[in-house]
Amino acid sequence: MTLGTIAQDAYLVAAVLFILSLAGLSKQETARRGNILGMVGMAVAIVATVVLALRDSVRPVAVTALLIALIFIVGASIGVWRAKTVEMTQMPELIAMLHSFVGIAAVLIGYNSFITEAHPDGGHLTEVYLGVLIGAVTFTGSIIAYLKLAAKINSKPLMIPGRNIINAIVLIVMLGMIGWFIPTHSMWPLAIMTVLAMLLGLHLVAAIGGGDMPVVISMLNSYSGWAAAAAGFMLNNNLLIITGSLVGASGAILSFLMCKAMNRKFLSVILGGFGDEPHAKAAEVTGEYHETSATDVAQELEESRSVIIAPGYGMAVAKAQYPVATLVERLRAKGVNVRFAVHPVAGRLPGHMNVLLAEAKVPYDIVLEMDEINPDFPETDMVLVIGANDTVNPSAAEDPNSPIAGMPVLEVWKAKQVVVFKRSMATGYAGVQNPLFYRDNTQMLFGDAKASVDAVLNALQ
Ligand code: TAP
Repeated sequence: MTLGTIAQDAYLVAAVLFILSLAGLSKQETARRGNILGMVGMAVAIVATVVLALRDSVRPVAVTALLIALIFIVGASIGVWRAKTVEMTQMPELIAMLHSFVGIAAVLIGYNSFITEAHPDGGHLTEVYLGVLIGAVTFTGSIIAYLKLAAKINSKPLMIPGRNIINAIVLIVMLGMIGWFIPTHSMWPLAIMTVLAMLLGLHLVAAIGGGDMPVVISMLNSYSGWAAAAAGFMLNNNLLIITGSLVGASGAILSFLMCKAMNRKFLSVILGGFGDEPHAKAAEVTGEYHETSATDVAQELEESRSVIIAPGYGMAVAKAQYPVATLVERLRAKGVNVRFAVHPVAGRLPGHMNVLLAEAKVPYDIVLEMDEINPDFPETDMVLVIGANDTVNPSAAEDPNSPIAGMPVLEVWKAKQVVVFKRSMATGYAGVQNPLFYRDNTQMLFGDAKASVDAVLNALQ
């Protein structure tokens, strides 16, 4: 057996491990195993790639080995430092940044492949052209997504008049220029297309508003997968083709599911808000709100038979999941039926709440999805909304002019009583007023979510 066949076999093993990893990640119970399988697969893939690189080295092997080691040390140090310091709530922006790396890597691989291949055929040139195109769109699109998620630029959609026509023309010009690129082998069409693709990526994501950003992240995830697959074709690397396709396909499926969860049109979101027309003015939200205290909430909890907790982004930033888990344990010990209602886009990334609750050792069987628990709100004595806002906003169901109209929400207002834990009357991520706070059956408990839950715990007898 040659080194080459062993490496190809190792690639196959890694590919199977990646597939098993994805399967594991689809359920909370098996997610840890899925992660481990993915890590083992990646280790196998890296070892095989390094072995092949050393075998095919054009420089002295020691020099190549040293270069690889150097890159490893730099990359791993930055990676370990980021992974250790990143807050769970900053994950989407980190992911967006990582996608931009995949994008620029595909662009660089494309140029390298174009420059170093002495006699490229049409097929190879097409791979280079498409790889660079997808990579460039992913690169700038991900940078804009990062800037929006990190609140470094305004998350409002950029609505240039005739933007869809502009996008369509840019796309047609880029695809048309392949007819100039292949017969001439000239760098010009490639360079012009790269600039246009970067502008397109920038514009596509800039046109998408705050509420749709989760879908954009998973869509860019998909694009980065296709960019990696294209790089795999250019480098003749089967594993990169398989892995890239897996990421591309799973990202596309996730985007589709998220669009369904938010009742948004998939095509409209991936085409940069295509078909979105400005909404009429949403209804004014006015009225008086009722403030409550931790002692009163504790007393009302003691008198309740059924309680549902709707967690959101605020619970994550406050790291309130730990006292919340203790509160749940205490209430259950008193015979109260306590469950969690998890909205599909609660928090800042898919599955965010599930991960936090699992981390705090909340049993899986009391954590329910929106569709499972929505019918139960009318029979519920008390709902605790802990740091959630957009995901419990009744305007989504009741005001057709609201920017979040049509997005399915947790129907918490149908319960007998609702207590909202937050610091102020400020809006949530989508920047939309929430009439829930002014309902007669809603009370506001102001303060940091962790401090408030601790106070309720102290007040419980
Ligand atoms: P949001 O609507 O963003 O509301 C979070 C609320 O938490 C805020 O109104 C804030 O009010 C409160 N809060 C912040 N810090 C707090 C603290 N320390 N203690 C107590 N409360 C605190 O959250 P949500 O209901 O989870 O909705 C998620 C939103 O994010 C949706 O619009 C969704 O589209 C978007 N999004 C989701 C994802 C995914 S995939 N899940 C990704 C990106 C964006 P105060 O400032 O008054 O405290």
